Amino acid sequence: MQVLSSLRRSAAQMSEQPSAQPGPAALRHGVLPMPNLAWTPEVARETAHLYEKVKSIIPPIEWPFHAPYVKAINELKKQRNAVILAHNYQTPEIYNCVADVVGDSLQLARLAGQSDADIIVQGGVHFMAETSKLLSPDKTVLIPDSRAGCSLAASITGADVRALRRKYPGVPVVAYVNTSADVKAEVDICCTSSNAVKVVESLGTDTVIMVPDRFLAANVARQTKVKIIAWRGACEVHERFTAEELLRYRADDPSIELIAHPECPPEVVDVCDFSGSTAAMIDYVKTRKPKRVLLVTECSMADNVAAENPGVDFVRPCNLCPHMKRITLPKILDSLVYMREEVTIDPLLAQRARRSVERMIELK
Ligand code: 13P
Ligand code: SF4
Repeated sequence: MQVLSSLRRSAAQMSEQPSAQPGPAALRHGVLPMPNLAWTPEVARETAHLYEKVKSIIPPIEWPFHAPYVKAINELKKQRNAVILAHNYQTPEIYNCVADVVGDSLQLARLAGQSDADIIVQGGVHFMAETSKLLSPDKTVLIPDSRAGCSLAASITGADVRALRRKYPGVPVVAYVNTSADVKAEVDICCTSSNAVKVVESLGTDTVIMVPDRFLAANVARQTKVKIIAWRGACEVHERFTAEELLRYRADDPSIELIAHPECPPEVVDVCDFSGSTAAMIDYVKTRKPKRVLLVTECSMADNVAAENPGVDFVRPCNLCPHMKRITLPKILDSLVYMREEVTIDPLLAQRARRSVERMIELK
């Protein structure tokens, strides 16, 4: 398992050459020299405390590859007054060794607005970086690879939302945060997987349109009397899980606890013991300390939660999010050295999109 996880990570580690022209962020903040990335006794010494956190999931033979990047990134963060916000699906060396803040989408959205850093580097996908920019318009927000998309965010546009409003006049629209700023600007309020039911019920109507995840919408519909009209999007990671495969794990070991993300199809959630956001899944493992658990979600979650819960046995079917895996240590380093890739949003669009995110955050 360790070998497989290291292969998965190293395949995505390749850095790419910086573009020839410095962008506006590089002109504002300046470009720094690329640090020395040699594996030396000094690097080993200065990163030893961080290796302690990941030694159960990163084999010793791999650490000399990560450690020079870890050291360089942590020094550059101080030099730039930058913070790294990392989603729970980021790889263990990012999540445990360079991130300042980790969490689910709601936690990251809240913390983006509170940080007093000048620069935010988003360890996550593009819609998360846009949410950070919406909540911190005066900060420079960087995403190490702007191609880090999301099948949900790609499934709907602002024009689609306008068409839905014409089709269902007067029905409020809730957008999952896994959407572009263009979509957020057209809706009444946002939600995440951890507050979706509360957001839907906060609107006080008997019907609500929920975009873009049809499975999250179906899972929410079962927990509320509000009628939900859903869009057709799906997460390419969570839609692949099936009830049959999970039942096979349970047949092998009836004591196994199955916990699923609500982006999974309802029939998958039905055979699980618990369903919740990535942060709620982590809390479940930390507080209940199951003997054996299977996290029905993206694979890095199990690596990260395993590092923090050495007594728990994790069964790991691996559905990987290719977008999350575009973010690597070499690309984070490039971001901090070359100040790329900057996330910008048209100010008028941002004003409308920000309101939808803020309404959600104000709900508490
Ligand atoms: P959480 O908000 O539960 O972290 O999930 C969002 C997600 O799917 C990120 O890809
Ligand atoms: Fe999008 Fe799914 Fe990847 Fe999350 S895991 S970023 S919802 S494709």
